[in-house]
Amino acid sequence: MTPPGAMLGVLGGGQLARMFAFAAHRLGYRVTALDPSRDCAAAGAVDRLICAPLDDRAAWLEMARSCSAVTIETENVPAAALRFIGEHVPVAPDAFALEVSQHRLREKNFLSKSGVPVAPYADIASKKAASMQYPDLVPGILKTCRHGYDGKGQWRIGAAHELLPAFVSLGDVACVLEARLPLAAELSVILARDDRGRIALFPVPMNTHRDGVLDISVAPAPLPLAAIRAARKYAQRIAHALNYRGVLCVEFFLLQNGNLIVNEIAPRPHNSGHFTIEACQTSQFEQQVRVLAGMPLGSTRQTRPAAMVNLLGELWQHGDMHWPAVLQEPGTHLHLYGKSVPRPGRKMGHITCLGPSAPLAAERLVALRAELPAITRQDLPAKSPINRIPQDHFAPNVHL
Ligand SMILES: Nc1ncnc2c1ncn2[C@@H]1O[C@H](COP(=O)(O)OP(=O)(O)O)[C@@H](O)[C@H]1O
Ligand SMILES: [Mg+2]
Repeated sequence: MTPPGAMLGVLGGGQLARMFAFAAHRLGYRVTALDPSRDCAAAGAVDRLICAPLDDRAAWLEMARSCSAVTIETENVPAAALRFIGEHVPVAPDAFALEVSQHRLREKNFLSKSGVPVAPYADIASKKAASMQYPDLVPGILKTCRHGYDGKGQWRIGAAHELLPAFVSLGDVACVLEARLPLAAELSVILARDDRGRIALFPVPMNTHRDGVLDISVAPAPLPLAAIRAARKYAQRIAHALNYRGVLCVEFFLLQNGNLIVNEIAPRPHNSGHFTIEACQTSQFEQQVRVLAGMPLGSTRQTRPAAMVNLLGELWQHGDMHWPAVLQEPGTHLHLYGKSVPRPGRKMGHITCLGPSAPLAAERLVALRAELPAITRQDLPAKSPINRIPQDHFAPNVHL
């Protein structure tokens, strides 16, 4: 057990490390992050930033020397880092879980072997493999095995002849081709598993993506209970099969025929679990701290229905945000990650709204987000999407 006051380490310094640090600080821990960028999102939130590439062995040694336990906030950490650090101090997750989840082919092989359903797929490791026919997998999606996130490293394949050029465009690197499935909804199961194999499951959010990036999560998911139960069962099976320790997210597709498919797993807190910060008795980040420190898992009970919307860089295309629009709304919680450059697609922050129901909270958030860009209605052409949102979307909420 690592008592409060100790130094916890996190490999990676993005927004997930930042929110991990906030949770750790609340419990009295100190935090060291390792990240190559001096102005990473976690920089202002941690006690110490070791500024070095994630594959820097001297930095691993320094983490092992100065931290009592170490976790990760991204899959793009070399598994060797966790293996090395894990020889000196506790790590969660372990190198094996990271190795499985950071490589799509290995992940799909592991998942199918564990008896959970995945999308039909093929190993596309060479130009030769990319020149063959896969009638059952087209239309499909070609995905790089490594380093994909937020829909990056993916190519949609509409016809067989597109496969080879897509493979070359993705850099002639190991890929998987998977069938494009008719989705009815997406959902994710976030859980924490401790070193004695006990599992705490969070309420399940339903997730909507835009251009491959998570846009909105609503929890509890307004989906059939049978699907949610099955997803929770599969997620627990995966956690046990990995002998997992830490916070794990399992992304699911609910197909139009009612079948459930595991899309991918993330060995860390997940964007779709940000609602837990305000809506659950213990957040996914506090749970990560607790597991890492060998402390008891917290209650995951949800106290209010909730929704979360992401704030992506493109929202800033006309300038700064009109923050009072969200800050003056009761029941809404603004999170900004401290990033200075709002590149399109970049996750700059999110807003969570606690509401009388999850779908209503989501509706409010979408309207609020549209109100954020600091341009007035009068500045906009009448055809602007903002002007098409009915006025009563902006009425002060009377439900809360
Ligand atoms: N086989 C598929 N069929 C239909 N939609 C898919 C499929 N694979 C991915 N998608 C869509 O693209 C999104 C991102 O894909 P995903 O594999 O989760 O990559 P990332 O690692 O970027 O999150 C998914 O959440 C889903 O909306
Ligand atoms: Mg995904």
